[in-house]
Amino acid sequence: MAYSCKNKVAEDSLQDVITFDLGSKIKEEFKVLVDSEPALKNLYQDQDTAMQIMQVMGKKLEVLLPSNIQETLREMGRTGEPGIIYLKGLPTDYYIPEKGGILERVNAKSKVSECLMLGLAYIMRCEVRPNNEQGGRIIHNIAPVNGLENTFSSKGTEPFYLHTDNAYQEKVPDFVMMYSLVQDPDVSTSYYPISGFIESFPKDILESMKKKQFKIKSAPGYSEIEGIFALLSEEEDIAQNKKVRLRLYQEPRGRIEAASEEVGEEVQKVIQAVERILKPVNPKGISLKSGEAIIFNNGWGINKVGGVMHGRKGKIKNLQRWLQRAFLFKR
Ligand SMILES: [Fe+2]
Repeated sequence: MAYSCKNKVAEDSLQDVITFDLGSKIKEEFKVLVDSEPALKNLYQDQDTAMQIMQVMGKKLEVLLPSNIQETLREMGRTGEPGIIYLKGLPTDYYIPEKGGILERVNAKSKVSECLMLGLAYIMRCEVRPNNEQGGRIIHNIAPVNGLENTFSSKGTEPFYLHTDNAYQEKVPDFVMMYSLVQDPDVSTSYYPISGFIESFPKDILESMKKKQFKIKSAPGYSEIEGIFALLSEEEDIAQNKKVRLRLYQEPRGRIEAASEEVGEEVQKVIQAVERILKPVNPKGISLKSGEAIIFNNGWGINKVGGVMHGRKGKIKNLQRWLQRAFLFKR
């Protein structure tokens, strides 16, 4: 992607990604700011407090972040482009607990990463909302949980095929932000641009995908949810732009099925086309180091579908691996 920016890191392996390296200045200054924020102890308990912190941190970041980075984030928040931003050199906590269950570790850590995530969402002019996940928390912890290792969820250790996040929910997050606290170098977050393959779908398949005839289910084994949707749907944003949204799984069987018997055959044709085109795909991935984040468009665009599907490559071996995640919604 052609983009000129003095903070951009040239990495041939990441052509689809806009990369910024923020350096040490923001780290030190941001940590000091977080320390002086009295409302922080209620961050996880109370949504209003979290929104207040989002404003405070967003305004601080408006001073600290280079303006070209802010412009790119704002543009992404408004139009969905670029599809992925990769940020390096972000502040991490002074202390990242290693022992205990994930909730104990969350409580024991300072809240630098959480504040930064909320601040970045503010720059993007997005809302951060819970989406029936992780007990209604607005910042999710993606880390292996004892006893849930084998589930296809944020608590498991298994690799995860490409998908749009929360495809089974009425409100699909517009962006997903992932922030790494502890890396597992054997595991990477994979991504695959949607526009490239969606155009290769036959016309009749695309027409079938626009019909509200698919039952979409969350992964089995953990807090199961389902709903009936089109795989390609249209909605209006606040500025009355037409947003085209994809809901899809690289391996659709077990996740997508016909909403009724009458549409069974048509839905099967779509599933077969998805398998033919997407199953062989081996996407690129980024193994996020501590203090790195990616923000990606979760499968929508203005007037045409855009963004990426994402997944996880490799099985988690480092049980301390810890990513934090936020779902962002365009206003
Ligand atoms: Fe996901």
